[in-house]
Amino acid sequence: MTQHTLFVCVLCRFSKTDGNQAELSAGQSLFDRLSAGLAPDSICENIHLHPVRCLGACSHACVVAFAAPNKLTFILSNLSPTDSVPELLQFSGQYVAYADGKVPHKERPDAVKQGIHAVLPHLPLDSKRWTLRCEHL
Ligand code: FES
Repeated sequence: MTQHTLFVCVLCRFSKTDGNQAELSAGQSLFDRLSAGLAPDSICENIHLHPVRCLGACSHACVVAFAAPNKLTFILSNLSPTDSVPELLQFSGQYVAYADGKVPHKERPDAVKQGIHAVLPHLPLDSKRWTLRCEHL
C-alpha cells in the first residue's frame, strides 16, 4: 500500500489577529486537531501525519504538505489552525483515493483551493533518464 504523508509545520505562529495564544503554536494546534481527526477509524486512516519544524513558508502560516510516492505533492499555506481542519481531513481522503493525487480542482475543498502554495510533480522513477539529463548539463 502506498504511504501517504501529511506534513504539518508545528512551529508556525499564530497571526497577531488570533489573540494571545502564547502556550501553543498555531502549527501545533493544527497538528493536534488533525491528529484527532485522523483517528484509526476515520476515513483518512491511510495517511500518516508527520510533524516538521518548518516547511520554509514561515510568513504564510499555517503550512502543510501532502506527499506520497508517484503522486503530486501539494504544499498549502495560509491555513487557519482551526477552520481548515475539516477541509484538510476531507482532502486527505481525496488525496489517498486518487492514484496520482491529482484531485480535480472543482472537487477540492475551499481551504485547499485558496491555500495552494505550490504543487510539485512526482519524482521521476527512471533513474537512467535522470542520469542522461545530468550528463548533458
Ligand atoms: S515556521 Fe512554519 S513554515 Fe516555517
